[in-house]
Amino acid sequence: MRTQVAIVGAGPAGLLLSQLLYVAGVESVVLERRDQAYVEDRIRAGLLEQGTVALLEKVGVAERMHAEGLIHGGFSLALDGVAHRIDLTGLTGKSVMVYGQTEVTKDLIEACAGRDMPVQFETADVALHDVEGDAPFVTFTREGRAQRLDCDFIAGCDGFHGVSRPSIPEELRRTFERVYPFGWLGILADVPPCHHELIYSNHERGFALASMRSPTRSRYYVQCALDEQIEDWPDERIWDELAIRLGEEAHCAMTRGPSIEKSIAPLRSFVSEPMRHGRLFLAGDAAHIVPPTGAKGLNLAASDVAMLSEAIALHYRSGDRTGLDEYSGRALARVWKAERFSWWFTGLTHRFPDMDPFARKMQVAELEYIFSSKAAQTTLAENYVGLPLA
Ligand code: FAD
Ligand code: PHB
Repeated sequence: MRTQVAIVGAGPAGLLLSQLLYVAGVESVVLERRDQAYVEDRIRAGLLEQGTVALLEKVGVAERMHAEGLIHGGFSLALDGVAHRIDLTGLTGKSVMVYGQTEVTKDLIEACAGRDMPVQFETADVALHDVEGDAPFVTFTREGRAQRLDCDFIAGCDGFHGVSRPSIPEELRRTFERVYPFGWLGILADVPPCHHELIYSNHERGFALASMRSPTRSRYYVQCALDEQIEDWPDERIWDELAIRLGEEAHCAMTRGPSIEKSIAPLRSFVSEPMRHGRLFLAGDAAHIVPPTGAKGLNLAASDVAMLSEAIALHYRSGDRTGLDEYSGRALARVWKAERFSWWFTGLTHRFPDMDPFARKMQVAELEYIFSSKAAQTTLAENYVGLPLA
């Protein structure tokens, strides 16, 4: 097989890249290790920046999102149960969209299915070859047969545990990392949300987040210790904890119900530089991870592939390689700003095991400063709605 761009991974980065390239007249093949149902049902992010929404519109995959997604012009930030609204639209003129990663993924897979080459699910043993030369190729096994895909470029969109990042020689890679001493226990339930917007809560007992997927489906998170197991958290214990951490008002409006999904995710900040090696380009979680506190993971994957697709399209249109040469630096400039925001927002809202009374006072003072200062709220809001592509 031959194509222009071989894309490894059918998460948001790989699927959106394939669609952006298609719109620009560039051919690609997406190779995905898992089966379609697994990829579509993986519960992850839930919040899209306006820039991500615009990209989905640009590639013609926005109809269902506009029909079913919820536009949020603000969110609440709570300290020990007392909430203050951050007016995103009033402060920045922008809003965010509540629309699950599962739905974005389904819409993109459907768009891809209508084209010549649908996503190649259940592709095993993917290996990248000759990325430093002019004729890279990918080998893999599919339907029991060893296959080879020749291409001009490879896009490594295969997430944190994929094969693309390790294909860059270790001595050429620099990694930067913070592992946080806690995780998020997430619960999905078919009950109406306790509030019409999200609530991020800093509580003595630990962080909590009230989010949603629709007017009838809620997504909640509580900070938990890394050594805790799902079995330690029967549904009733999660609801009790949420009721305490989110405060009286949310507690009164909260509808309890059986969980339809429950999982613990560790929190990590991670960046691998550079995001390009020869004809291999990394995008999304393959190159960087953020803690979910600022909802930046999926949105960063989208901004990476926006930049990468522009660079690739420019190359095919005019032979101009400057976009390709500048991709890593340009993407990383935005990545680091989102890393900083996610790290800062995590520090502001979570309870750290080594937190002494002074550190707690600092957290409280910073939150109270934000509640009282329009300048501080604007800084928070402009990062939350998403910085420009630049
Ligand atoms: P991924 O979505 O990881 O996609 C990579 C794809 O590559 C996968 O489909 C994988 O199966 C495939 N793949 C991997 N290896 C290979 C291989 N060798 N060959 C072929 N295919 C391969 N972000 C938020 O903003 N909010 C959240 O609440 C949130 N929750 C999260 C919870 C979890 C458990 C995780 C893991 C992430 C969460 N994120 C969240 C982050 C967000 O989901 C990611 O940033 C986003 O999915 C990144 O998209 P991606 O396409 O780069 O990577
Ligand atoms: C979610 O709904 O899953 C979600 C929303 C906002 C975040 C993180 C996760 O900051």
